[in-house]
Amino acid sequence: MAAKVGVGLLGLGTVGGGVASILQNPSERHPLVGELELIRVAVRDLNRPRPVALDESLLTTDPSAVIQDPAVDVVVEVIGGLEPARSLILQAIAAGKSVVTANKAVIARHGQEIAEAAAAAGVYVLIEAAVGGGIPIIEPLKQSLGGNRINRVSGIINGTTNYILTRMAEEGAAYDAVLKDAQELGYAEADPAADVDGLDAADKIAILATLAFGGSVDRAAVPTDGISGLQGVDVDYANQLGYGVKLLAVAERMAESGDPLPLSLRVQPTLVPKDHPLAGVNGVNNAILVEGDPIGRVMFYGPGAGAGPTASAVVADILNIAGIRQASEGPGNVDPLLAASSWRPCALVDSGDIRQRHYVRFKTKDAPGVIGNVGGCFGQRNVSIQSIVQFNASDAGAEIVVITHEVSQRQMNEALDAIQALPEVSGLAAHLGCL
Ligand code: NDP
Ligand code: HSE
Repeated sequence: MAAKVGVGLLGLGTVGGGVASILQNPSERHPLVGELELIRVAVRDLNRPRPVALDESLLTTDPSAVIQDPAVDVVVEVIGGLEPARSLILQAIAAGKSVVTANKAVIARHGQEIAEAAAAAGVYVLIEAAVGGGIPIIEPLKQSLGGNRINRVSGIINGTTNYILTRMAEEGAAYDAVLKDAQELGYAEADPAADVDGLDAADKIAILATLAFGGSVDRAAVPTDGISGLQGVDVDYANQLGYGVKLLAVAERMAESGDPLPLSLRVQPTLVPKDHPLAGVNGVNNAILVEGDPIGRVMFYGPGAGAGPTASAVVADILNIAGIRQASEGPGNVDPLLAASSWRPCALVDSGDIRQRHYVRFKTKDAPGVIGNVGGCFGQRNVSIQSIVQFNASDAGAEIVVITHEVSQRQMNEALDAIQALPEVSGLAAHLGCL
């Protein structure tokens, strides 16, 4: 049986609370989650109400006490800001502890210093939560896409501004009110100017560029424009011309090669054609398009901020460190995440129990009462219909198309058998699933 992996949390706010909640409820997650033990938690104010119920003896206002606790193997920095976060990360590395952080501000500015310190100490600093909230993008860029020559990384990488732009466009909601909602939902930075002025997106594109192109970039030199100066009239005009407006971050190579490799980075409100994949990315969601050779274009999409999604990314990093640790425990041990072996039996339910919506098309006579009889067969088997429409009525017959609400395959089969037995129905011409 592998030893428990001790986790020390620096910060118990939106993200820290989400992480603690996962660690306290390992049931039905990967068994390695059950091997993680929350040892100590640093906060600023011991009296502040917490979103998770924690043993109060775990809390301290001294982050160094967390880092130096011998039972802590992994330090999770979710305090935010530049200092003391940077110094605490370096302190943890110096103590020989691997670090997981969601802090893009620190990584975009001090990533090189931190990476060098980690390499020298032989520990890991993992940053999956720093870009894209719950979207796995950091490890895919580091690992899964490693065989590609990356040409361009672009996307919507700030949840707060995308949430604001979406609600303003869809509801005509007022900027200040929606920003307040984003803060209450835990999406915004401690100083939301970092979101609305594009600084957070600039931090993130600098990090993505470093991973995609292999060299650190000068964060201060990234041309950055946010949404605070965006005029509603321009959003309206763009809409009339067939575009949505998104806060886009872009990093692209400007030459095949070079030393240094010339790159172009920018963050700015950008018109996106309505049929472009990024145009449908709304609310707090983020999406990142990675273009490379030979893969072509891949898009990563999902919730870009908030407690749960961000904690998902943080815990993934902790698990990676725990997996590497288990693999190094002795000959014959492998990383349980990389091995991807199953850990319990699973069984498929009878296909009759599968529940979904259905699309069906019948060929029928064009006769009075057909729709009623078809509808009756569904109703008698408790199959609820969302829509029923007759097409192509002629002497040769008609077609009736039905879309159901969610039902079991068994109910659906019984209804279909009854319908096909109706004399006015000549056959079932199509049967598809429906989301
Ligand atoms: P919060 O402000 O909600 O939480 C910060 C936590 O850090 C609080 O628990 C606070 O204590 C504690 N803290 C602050 N200063 C100190 C200190 N000096 N010593 C000890 N504890 C301290 O921030 P978030 O959870 O939203 O963000 C944390 C990090 O995650 C930031 O880097 C952010 O950019 C990043 N992030 C956030 C996302 C989000 O959706 N919110 C998404 C992705 C990344 P107390 O509670 O007592 O005040
Ligand atoms: N404030 C950030 C955002 C949090 O809104 O995207 C996630 O990094």
